[in-house]
Amino acid sequence: MEDGATRSVLLVVGGGIAAYKALELIRRLREHGLRVRTVLTDSGARFVTPMSIQALSGERVFGDLFSLTDESEMGHIALSRSSDLIVVCPATADLLARMVAGLANDLATTVLLATDTPVLVAPAMNVRMWTHAATQANVATLRARGVTFVGPASGLMACNESGPGRLAEPDDILSAILRLLHPDRPLAGRRAMVTAGPTHEPIDPVRYIANRSSGTQGYAIAAALAAAGADVTLVSGPTTLPDPAGVRTVRVETARDMLAACLTALPCDIAVCTAAVADWHVAPAPQKIKKTAGAPPPTLQLVPNPDILATLSQPSPTRPGLVIGFAAETEHIVTHATAKRLRKGCDWIVANDVSPGTGIMGGTENEVCLIDAAGCEHWPRLDKTQVARKLVARIATFLQTPPPNPE
Ligand code: CTP
Repeated sequence: MEDGATRSVLLVVGGGIAAYKALELIRRLREHGLRVRTVLTDSGARFVTPMSIQALSGERVFGDLFSLTDESEMGHIALSRSSDLIVVCPATADLLARMVAGLANDLATTVLLATDTPVLVAPAMNVRMWTHAATQANVATLRARGVTFVGPASGLMACNESGPGRLAEPDDILSAILRLLHPDRPLAGRRAMVTAGPTHEPIDPVRYIANRSSGTQGYAIAAALAAAGADVTLVSGPTTLPDPAGVRTVRVETARDMLAACLTALPCDIAVCTAAVADWHVAPAPQKIKKTAGAPPPTLQLVPNPDILATLSQPSPTRPGLVIGFAAETEHIVTHATAKRLRKGCDWIVANDVSPGTGIMGGTENEVCLIDAAGCEHWPRLDKTQVARKLVARIATFLQTPPPNPE
């Protein structure tokens, strides 16, 4: 463990074409203020050089178990214990097998055998090697021993085969590392966007169409996401609320501005749309509309606004992994909200009754149902900050649940 606040990662770089991604990972870890020391296996050194690792990490690279210099300056036992986390990236099938067998035939496996520090493994190998019963049994054994896995991802691989086996993206490995280093911040390394408040749709330079939304629920969710470690952009319509601490707040006026700001905040892992977006706008008059004695009152030609939630929910390479909408209803709450979830294509929808008697719109409390593909869960009436914390806890659990095993 390092002195002071600096957290230290020991990166074990195994062999394989994906080893070059370890360089990007080192860069990202350093951006997050982490110290990175590296053990480069002999096979890893065939793909990346100690010099590039040293240049990026600012640290000397460890490689030879029997180097007397290493042993006198930093024995392998000390090396294994002086880090907050050991990350094996990329981990080959061979390295996994040697970890399971408890071999200590190079510095990497010796360090891994000698350590009581948490270990994160990012495997990368050919799809058949990954799905082979031997590898899967090794993964199960390591998991049972407390090792955490990130990936592998699926896709086309360097060997021209497709399926699970690709190294997880450096950003995903970074997120997993940050979560392990900060267990109290389960969304560390995740990016989130929240829309909140009303929108104002101008009629002329002094008048606008608006609604009663105060933004309280959305601001509370943005703050709760930030407290859980996420990097949060709050896209807010006009409100009287102060910017939440630790959150990037972008102030907008109209629905079209809000959509543009949301698209700028992509890519992100989580989108929560709480804003009460005006469904229509008008072509605003350039000057204040005047009353003319005897003339008929003006009529407003309403033009539909873009649907921000539906736009973010559309399948695309930048679609957030979890898109959550809110449904403000005044009757048949669950039926309408369930239909709205399907119509808009979001993953979850939080339904609430905003009828005038409830005091919810503009108030400090909320009573919601969380609706997903599996059904509807009714939450008790809670303070909006408690609803926010409960929702963020759900989000963290959802994002931490590993994808199904490929077998
Ligand atoms: N929403 C949005 N963009 C819009 C309208 C709504 O992003 N132009 C989002 C809201 O932020 C909320 C969800 O869609 O997450 C549902 O909003 P709601 O006002 O309840 O539904 P509408 O789509 O406006 O449908 P209706 O007014 O018919 O109930």
